[in-house]
Amino acid sequence: MTNADFEKIVETSDEWIRTRTGIKERRFAEDDVAVSDLAVEACKNAIKSSGLKNEDIDLLVCGTVTPDYRLPSAACIIQEKMDLPNAVAFDIVSACTGFINGLSVAASFIETGQYKNVLVVGAEKLTSIMNFTDRNTCVLFGDGAGAAVLTGSDDGSGILSTFLRSNGKYRELLWIPDGGTAKPIDEGYTFDGSDKVVMNGADVFKIAVKQMCDSAVRVVKDAGIDSEQIGLIIPHQANIRIIEAIAKRLKVSMDKVFVNIEKYGNTSAASIPIALDEAYEQGRIKDGDYILMVAFGGGLIWGSALMRW
Ligand code: UT7
Repeated sequence: MTNADFEKIVETSDEWIRTRTGIKERRFAEDDVAVSDLAVEACKNAIKSSGLKNEDIDLLVCGTVTPDYRLPSAACIIQEKMDLPNAVAFDIVSACTGFINGLSVAASFIETGQYKNVLVVGAEKLTSIMNFTDRNTCVLFGDGAGAAVLTGSDDGSGILSTFLRSNGKYRELLWIPDGGTAKPIDEGYTFDGSDKVVMNGADVFKIAVKQMCDSAVRVVKDAGIDSEQIGLIIPHQANIRIIEAIAKRLKVSMDKVFVNIEKYGNTSAASIPIALDEAYEQGRIKDGDYILMVAFGGGLIWGSALMRW
């Protein structure tokens, strides 16, 4: 779905979308594709490249705000479709921070010895919660999935530090007002867009820049390294201007920052794992590199992870 396609739907322009966000295209899943279908493709690829077998996975964590059903979790559906006989599976509802929170959960379980091999997937069908009459939001998002397998190591590689924070007082800046138990959609409900994503973009932007920059600085410090040692920054792909602000704050040049927002838009929990996979495929990640990941999303919630590849 290109910016030109959106020009036919809402009062917008390719020029506005490109200069304000960096987005040129985004991918939309077909109507009969559920979020678990997107996740399964990513999970299969992740397990294949890990060299492990399905039976080896003891925990599956799925970051999503667009599960197939309200009950059960998307993770349980993915577990069944993937056939992971020895795993427990659950979702993490942390919007765009879902993958970072998933990594943190995975690393903690591995460190305590409770689980050995953890599959973390971020998957979203954001088209299911987009208001296609609201130009403030509909041009921003896309569908997608990305996954990673984490396993214990004693060679100094892995997740070195994570930093997670949230503040529910800002919940109404980025939310779906209606359709939950606080405001159910019952008989006589008038559909006015409140059952879809509603965002105060300018306010979210300001908080995102501050908290993503602070989180990035913090996780680098906690890992005991200097920002010059960072091999690659993989930020959540919400807005190119936010990404540039993070690079500036860390005094890291943009060629050490992975950007693919132009192709996918904002895919929420899927954004970082898709970028991580593309960066690896493009040879931009080598053994021993320090990788900084940082995200921000509805909650409001934000966080970062520093990984040694
Ligand atoms: O992933 C979760 C976290 N999300 C984010 O981090 C998103 C953060 N926010 C943003 O990325 C930016 O705020 C947006 C890209 C959403 C908006 O950019 P902005 O520079 O903050 O624009 P704005 O909301 O202040 O709106 C400026 C103008 C408004 O017009 P008026 O009121 O000045 O006449 C909007 O109506 O731009 C208008 N506008 C548009 N114009 C053309 C808003 N959306 C569009 C559009 N096409 N699609």
